[in-house]
Amino acid sequence: MCGIVGAVARRNVVPLLIAGLKRLEYRGYDSAGLAIINGGLHRVRSIGRVAQLEAQAHAEQVSGNLGIAHTRWATHGAPSIRNAHPHQSRDGIAVVHNGIIENYEALRSQLQQQGYSFESETDTEVIAHLVHSCYARHQDLGLATREAVGMLQGAYAIAVVCADQPHRLLAARLGSPLLIGVGEGEYFLASDAAALIAVTQNMLYLEEGDVVDITLAGYAITDVGGQPVSRASHVSRVSADTAELGPYAHYMQKEIAEQPRAIADTVEKVLALGFVPQLFGDLGHAVLADLDSVAIIACGTSYHAALVARYWIEQIARVPCSAEVASEYRYRDSVPNPRTLIVTISQSGETADTLAALKHAQAQGHRHSLAICNVPESALTRLSTLTFLTRAGMEIGVASTKAFTTQLVALFALAVTLARLRGVLAREAEIEYLDALRRLPNKVQHVLNLEPQLKLWAEQFAKKNHALFLGRGVHYPIALEGSLKLKEVSYIHAEAYPAGELKHGPLALVDAEMPVVAVAPNDALLGKLKSNLQEVKARGGELYVLADNDSHFTSAEGLHVIRMPDYEGILSPVMHVVPLQLLAYHTACRLGTDVDKPRNLAKSVTVE
Ligand code: M6R
Repeated sequence: MCGIVGAVARRNVVPLLIAGLKRLEYRGYDSAGLAIINGGLHRVRSIGRVAQLEAQAHAEQVSGNLGIAHTRWATHGAPSIRNAHPHQSRDGIAVVHNGIIENYEALRSQLQQQGYSFESETDTEVIAHLVHSCYARHQDLGLATREAVGMLQGAYAIAVVCADQPHRLLAARLGSPLLIGVGEGEYFLASDAAALIAVTQNMLYLEEGDVVDITLAGYAITDVGGQPVSRASHVSRVSADTAELGPYAHYMQKEIAEQPRAIADTVEKVLALGFVPQLFGDLGHAVLADLDSVAIIACGTSYHAALVARYWIEQIARVPCSAEVASEYRYRDSVPNPRTLIVTISQSGETADTLAALKHAQAQGHRHSLAICNVPESALTRLSTLTFLTRAGMEIGVASTKAFTTQLVALFALAVTLARLRGVLAREAEIEYLDALRRLPNKVQHVLNLEPQLKLWAEQFAKKNHALFLGRGVHYPIALEGSLKLKEVSYIHAEAYPAGELKHGPLALVDAEMPVVAVAPNDALLGKLKSNLQEVKARGGELYVLADNDSHFTSAEGLHVIRMPDYEGILSPVMHVVPLQLLAYHTACRLGTDVDKPRNLAKSVTVE
């Protein structure tokens, strides 16, 4: 989604802003722009890639020591130069903005009555004029920015520059992330740490309601009322290496391949400490020992992890567990139970629906929450009582892969920890679960070695317009995830069903043109699944089966089988999702789509 970069330095900041925007490209965007203060305001905007903005800025010989830059993912108004950020007002005031201003129509008509004219359809342009109308009264950019943000309703991270103030950068956040980067006598601003890794690792995360006034001499953070606040500085763990592609063609391919390492890093602490409540934070014991149910809330792929966890938590810990899509939960008048642990799952920790759902749960009286997240210091972790940080490393491809498998291992650790706390875990089972986690990275590596066979399947899938994914039990969410991956990156329409539901409707779709993928581990439901597959075969459907080696499935006419390693027991879902990721990836490559930045999608969905 939208990205912000800003810089105040003694050197030309244009290359720094462009490099920062390039590092944010993975988030998804449709236009880009920058504004530089150098004897006046110079604005450059373009549709399409940041490289084009770079060429334009170079051609126009734009340079200067103060600037802001932005990648826009259209919400209000189509992707166009007119709607691209920065937006400007009188006296060389320019603004970039992430988020959505909910009262922009009312503000727009007030500003129009004051004589301001609008050139875009965006909600952001009102901020530029609002800051100007306050600036015209106070002649103080800091005061003007604080007064303006005080009038905004909705979510924002903004950065403001003004032609009169060649070394001053104002910024504010509410509901959208923003951080300050501290360099050697120079300061930066960004919506994501990744943007700044080439210039500094020293960062401060702004909190809700913060306004920061940055000059060459330093920065001052206040609340909207102007009262000073202090924020701790951190050394970012995001490294330049994680953003490099290396030998891979796409980030999605790299991230799929990184899963053995990501899983090993994530389970490291579990293997060292065992299934103890401290894995989830200092309050782990107090919170986990006191719950009587678990409600998991998430979006997209993270929601599929929640669905898997529901099976595990009920089966292993015998704790009632629900899983719900955040955008539904946040508006549902559910019955609160203060002893329910609210678990949120999010790769980014900034997903607007998940954050709002957690706030809704808290407002309803849910005291305790656990965030399973891949980004330290994200809004979600800051809002939650407990945190488990997955150690997938930065995920750049829009299609989530290694974040998903590491979420699964975190959720598995939660299920076993709850079982242990409740006294329902036999010692032998505990040892076996630890062993299973220890084996997992190697097992996933074996699945990755099946890639050439998945590539052959992908050639067939690339010729189709639809696909159906089937699974049963804990592997039904894996079928859902496989279908989401395929549609996201290849744009092939795909659906997933619990295999037992087939004859209740979707069987009508089955013919030779509809490939049917079956996630078929050698578990207690295999016999049932085999009967469901017969129903497909009898209707002339083409079956693609991911079977465990020890289930002795063999290929035949209309039946394509890939033999996975032997059945991996409780952690089998982690193994079975990997070939589905590879299938989606290679199908997309075959079709030539923009694998890492699929159309219409963004990496971090920070608006509702
Ligand atoms: O950052 P989050 O995990 O909260 O993101 C949730 C979804 O937006 C995300 O999983 C999305 O579905 C991915 N593109 C899936 O590949």
